[in-house]
Amino acid sequence: MAEKVHVLISEEDVDKRIQEIGDQISKDYAGKQVHLVCVLKGGVFFLCELAKRITVPVSLDFMSVSSYGSETKSSGVVRIVKDLDEPLKDKEVIVVEDIVDSGRTLSYLLEMLKDRGPKSVKLCTLLDKPERRVVDVNVDYTGFTIPDEFVVGYGLDYAQKYRNLPYIGVVELDEE
Ligand code: IMP
Ligand code: MG
Repeated sequence: MAEKVHVLISEEDVDKRIQEIGDQISKDYAGKQVHLVCVLKGGVFFLCELAKRITVPVSLDFMSVSSYGSETKSSGVVRIVKDLDEPLKDKEVIVVEDIVDSGRTLSYLLEMLKDRGPKSVKLCTLLDKPERRVVDVNVDYTGFTIPDEFVVGYGLDYAQKYRNLPYIGVVELDEE
């Protein structure tokens, strides 16, 4: 099976939007410190670009979850593969994600993180596919709302490929 990728959101547009979100977060958290929690691996490109553009003090932590399922669908069963290194107690947490699709991963994760006693928890996602939502998730900062298409790049993969693309692309599968 061959596949092609075409550009959905250009590198320039992604960078511009991340700057805007960085400015907004810096404003919203003026006088505070933010603790960015990145969901690996998809969120890591967005996290780095976003963190560089936040002007209030920032600390970072990482976790990895796997949602048992196929390459293009998540099953809703979430397993923690790598937990955070630091406690969240009294921190102003922002979860940084690549994409909210069905919402299953995030709703599970947010509930779990809220139980750890942070001062606040917000969600920041580069992409949102609201048409696919199965579980309600409150998104505080969204980069782009996109249609129901399978996207890659800027951390997002198709079978572990294309994470390094500096733009958001759509994969087209030519079944032969
Ligand atoms: P959920 O369906 O909201 O639980 O999304 C779970 C995960 O599926 C996301 O964090 C992504 O890692 C992955 N995912 C969902 N949609 C896409 C896509 O269009 N491209 C690549 N990965 C995706
Ligand atoms: Mg993800």
